[in-house]
Amino acid sequence: MSEVKQAGFKGTVYWICIVASLGGLLFGLDQGFIANALPTVDKVYGLNIFQGEGFSGIFLWGAAIGAFIAGFAGRFLGRKKSLVLAGALFAAMSIVSACLPAYEILYWARFLLGVGAGMASFVVPLYLAETAPASIRGSMGTLFQLMITVGILLISVTNVIFISLISSHTERLPLMFIVIVIFAVLMLVGAIFLPESPRWFMLRGKKDKAINALKKVLNSQEEVDLEIKEMEEIISSSAKTGSIFTGPFIKVLFVGMFMMVFQQLVGINAMIYYAPMILGYGGIVGIIGMLTVPIFNLAFTFPAIWLVEKWGRKKLLYVGSIIMFITLISGACAFLATGGQTDASLISSGTKVVLLISVIIYIFGFAFSWGPVAWLICSEIFPIQGREVGMTITTIINWLFAGIVVSFALTVIALYGPATLFFIFAVGCILSMVYLYFWVPETRGATLEEIEMNLKNGKKMKDLGKVE
Ligand code: BGC
Repeated sequence: MSEVKQAGFKGTVYWICIVASLGGLLFGLDQGFIANALPTVDKVYGLNIFQGEGFSGIFLWGAAIGAFIAGFAGRFLGRKKSLVLAGALFAAMSIVSACLPAYEILYWARFLLGVGAGMASFVVPLYLAETAPASIRGSMGTLFQLMITVGILLISVTNVIFISLISSHTERLPLMFIVIVIFAVLMLVGAIFLPESPRWFMLRGKKDKAINALKKVLNSQEEVDLEIKEMEEIISSSAKTGSIFTGPFIKVLFVGMFMMVFQQLVGINAMIYYAPMILGYGGIVGIIGMLTVPIFNLAFTFPAIWLVEKWGRKKLLYVGSIIMFITLISGACAFLATGGQTDASLISSGTKVVLLISVIIYIFGFAFSWGPVAWLICSEIFPIQGREVGMTITTIINWLFAGIVVSFALTVIALYGPATLFFIFAVGCILSMVYLYFWVPETRGATLEEIEMNLKNGKKMKDLGKVE
């Protein structure tokens, strides 16, 4: 009997993993940039609080448009070319920003950086799902999420280093952008050498090219033949189905869209973008104000990786909403206790401790639940023919609502104070639980085919994951 050794992965597979990680990392670098760099941008360009908020938010509006463009680019240009395009936008626009151009140009460069991030947020997971060998697809999805939080932390730390080493605002701002340039160029070069997705070739009727692409990632001809057969079956069965916009699909689309609406209305991006400023209102300044949120956001993403299978999705989401609700209320009370005082030395240490602990536990509440689980559920609930459309639309909604939160958070603080902002997000947490109770299915343990069958059989949305 011949001993069959489990062959390792081909070099291309590692390449795919690295480029996909860079996609997530860049997403995070741009998301996390504002927190510690905004005061420097404000000084260099003489921005007031509302202009600073506009500069922060324009990235997210760009990302919503980028996710929309990616839906078409991914289909017509191909997954790989869309990744190259996203990488090129990241690289070119971060280089333009590092040159400290006129404010209007910087503003639109940030918009186009957002377009790149929006494209990457859609194309990277899709490309991975279609190209990475089945045995590592799940962990690759988690890796993408994790790399976002790594990116947020990395840029927060490098920005703190520049702030402490370089006192001149105009000298330090280009360096802050150059960190993004380095990773953007790496991603661009990496993406150029990726193979195109075999599934995209098949969808375009190019079977030979699909076989060649599969040979680059799979180890044996048997595996290649099997994948080709499975793809042919799926494509011919979807060709027989008519329009995907049927009643059940529209319903499930709404479940996915509201998943993303609530992932944002609990307020996470106000914290990711403006934590140093928000904590500053409660007297917490300096390095603690600048690094607390990104450090805990990364650390608390790890528990989700195993809890999501152990507890199930819905329980995690409920617990996350409850934790965020309680901590937003305690944080708001801490702000009220300051009586509007913003001089750190005049705010009692008890108030500061309550606020800091509230924010840390709030971040825990998000990072171990709604952060990864909202994306996971949106990748599970759609029937195969509608998955691409469903995920494009839910991704756009995610960015749009992130844009709304980031574009109005500072205005709410300026007009009504930070406690009001926290109360608004607390209401978001309550509404999220109502939505969970009535509409969200528990998908743990159900296969994608079982979920699809339940949908076709007209089961209630909250029962889609139930398997008899
Ligand atoms: C959200 C982002 C957020 C990030 C924070 C993601 O799941 O979609 O809007 O900035 O988590 O880690």
